[in-house]
Order: sequence, then C-alpha cells, then structure tokens
Amino acid sequence: MNRPTTDVLDARGRPLHDLRISVIDRCNFRCTYCMPEDQYALDHVFLGKDQRLRFEEIERIARAFVALGVRKLRLTGGEPLLRRDLHELVRQLARIPGVEDIALTTNGVLLPKVAARLREAGLRRLTVSLDSLDPDTFRRLSGGRGEVAEVLDGIGAAEAAGFGQIKLNCVVLRGVNDHQVTALAERFRGTPHVVRFIEYMDVGTLNRWHKDAVVPSAELLARLHARWPLRALEANYRGEVAQRYAWADGAGEIGFISSVSQPFCGDCSRARLSADGRLYTCLFARLGYDLRGPLRGGASDEELTGLIGARWGQRSDRYSELRAQLRAAGNGEKVEMYTIGG
Ligand code: GTP
Ligand code: 5AD
Ligand code: SF4
Ligand code: SF4
Repeated sequence: MNRPTTDVLDARGRPLHDLRISVIDRCNFRCTYCMPEDQYALDHVFLGKDQRLRFEEIERIARAFVALGVRKLRLTGGEPLLRRDLHELVRQLARIPGVEDIALTTNGVLLPKVAARLREAGLRRLTVSLDSLDPDTFRRLSGGRGEVAEVLDGIGAAEAAGFGQIKLNCVVLRGVNDHQVTALAERFRGTPHVVRFIEYMDVGTLNRWHKDAVVPSAELLARLHARWPLRALEANYRGEVAQRYAWADGAGEIGFISSVSQPFCGDCSRARLSADGRLYTCLFARLGYDLRGPLRGGASDEELTGLIGARWGQRSDRYSELRAQLRAAGNGEKVEMYTIGG
C-alpha cells in the first residue's frame, strides 16, 4: 500500500495538493459557457466505456498522486453523477491513507437519487452549479436542459443526506445572468451554504468567450456590499481559489472566484485527470499526459508515481496570469472544460 512519501514541487515551486478527477466527459446540460450545443460537431464522439478509466484504475492513479503530496480529491465530469455507481468509487478513494477530503462538483439534478449513498460512502463536500433562480435565465444558460427547480430539489436532497455546507457555483455572464446575483445571494443568506460568483473564463475553444462578457468580481462585491455589508475573511488554506466574505449581519458567507481580474496561478497546486486517464497540469492546457497507457501496460505503483512526479516537476503553467499575451499570440487550442471538470 502506498504511504505518502515524497512531496514534489513544480518548476515554479508549487506543490501538488489537489487532484480533480473527471469520471465522464458526458453531461446532461449544455451550458453555453462550457458545452454550447450549437458548437458541437454533429459527429462529436464521447469516450467509450473501454476508453474511460475503471474505478480500480482511478484508485491506483489516485494512490500514486497521494504518494506525491495530494490530500484533496474532487470528482468532476462532465456530469459525474452520470457515471453509474459513483458511490463505489467514493468508497474506494476514501480508504486511501493520506486522503483527507473528497468533494464532488455536479449540476445537481441527479442528487435526489444518489446524495445519501454518496454521503454514506464517504463524500465529505459538495459543490452544485447554480447560475440563476429565474427559470428562463437558467434554461438559457443550461442550454435548455434541466430546470432550476430540479437543482433546488437536488440541493434539498443533499441537505437531507447530511451535507451541511454546500458550495453553489454561479458563473456570471454580463447581460445574461448578472441581474440574478442579488437574488442568489438573498436566497442563501441565512443558510450554511456558500454562493460563489465565478468570473466567466475562456476555457476550451467552444464558448465564444469575450472579455466584455466578464463581470469583474469587484463590481459584484460593490453591488452586494451596498445591499448587505460584507467583510473579508481569511482564506481557509493557502492557494484557495475563492476569496471569502461574510455578511456583516451574521447571515453567512459568500465567495468570489476571480481568475480573470485577479489570477491565482502563483499558488496553484491542482492537477486534473481526464476520464481517459490523461494528466492536465492546467485548466487551460493544450495537451494531457497519458497515464492510462502505462497503467494498462503494467506499470508498477512506483513507476506511476515516478511518471507523475516527473511531469509535475516540469510544470510551469500559469495561463491566467499570461492570458492577454497568450491570446494575442493566438494560443487557441485548449482542452474543453467538460473533459477535465471545473
Ligand atoms: P474547495 O476550495 O476545495 O471547496 O474547491 P474550489 O473552491 O476550488 O471549488 P471548485 O472546484 O468548485 O472550483 C470552482 C471554480 O473555480 C471552478 O469551477 C473553476 O471555474 C474555477 N477554478 C477552480 N480551479 C481553478 C484553477 O486552477 N484555475 C482557474 N483559472 N480556475 C479555477
Ligand atoms: N468559466 C468559469 N467557470 C466555468 N465552469 C465551466 N465553464 C466555465 C467557464 N467558462 C465551471 C462552473 C461549473 C463547473 C463545473 O465549471 O463553475 O460549476
Ligand atoms: Fe455540464 Fe457542468 Fe459543463 Fe454545464 S458546466 S455543461 S453542467 S459539465
Ligand atoms: Fe492553475 Fe492554470 Fe488555473 Fe493558473 S490558469 S490557477 S495554473 S489551472
């Protein structure tokens, strides 16, 4: 059994703490900022069953990452709850010595069926995407799939299953759902849940990103602060993605994720594994590093750890800090968000 052994640093001195595991590249939504329906090649082929890592394979790779310093795992997709019996994977991952935290990012509609099983299997934290409370705006962003009422039911089911504090991710697009920000904040004030407003990012190649559609967090902070005063909170841990704020009247917490206006690459300790077993060292990476080949070719645990450690040691990614230059230089090819999760 792998015990945590050698922590690694990348070429910019950043450790490897956090592994995000995409379990499936399919999704039951078509969010315009991630998988816009009209941008799909009609012949787009999703991964087949044999191409996706099996749970046992994911577990072995996760163990190799834990040996290099990873303490937090997050399951993502596409929509991870489309993967059958996901709770079995959670159970396997929760048994790995050294894993301190397992979280999941979902669009929420399938939670009523599986929240209790996931919780019982050892899932500690949940993040649910929720871009609008208004049904029409919601559908506009989800590509006409799913209903906001279903997501709210999913959140209710998660609460009933014992998830105390749920994070709610809202990607804000100017002129689309920025008018929903106050309503979302109000809806969850006074609950233990934390709404996080995310600046729209130029992930992938399909979403027709333009900087004019980005609403800088500072603007939302000012708007919300004028309505219900806010005070800044310390980060929970070094390199936390969200900037945290508490409502001064004690009604709870919100957050802002500002990777466009205030990039946070300096402390980025996140690796991403695609459902077909490729390691991506940045959300905006062009190429993934194949781990499935060596794994299926019979590599030992030590060999896997060695391959991952060597790849991490070469890592110098900091896309968000270099965004303007890289875009100007025509750095077009990027992995799609639904293949590596958020
Ligand atoms: P915890 O702090 O562990 O709860 O997780 P988190 O705050 O990282 O939450 P989550 O994984 O839900 O990330 C929220 C969103 O932040 C993602 O959906 C992305 O939009 C964005 N994000 C997360 N990690 C990165 C990153 O490394 N780079 C950039 N540019 N954006 C990120
Ligand atoms: N910009 C910012 N966040 C995004 N996500 C997906 N696409 C984008 C984008 N273009 C995030 C959302 C969603 C999670 C799965 O990925 O937060 O909740
Ligand atoms: Fe699916 Fe999440 Fe992408 Fe929306 S953001 S299309 S829910 S993977
Ligand atoms: Fe990390 Fe890349 Fe995001 Fe920067 S842009 S924080 S390096 S994932």
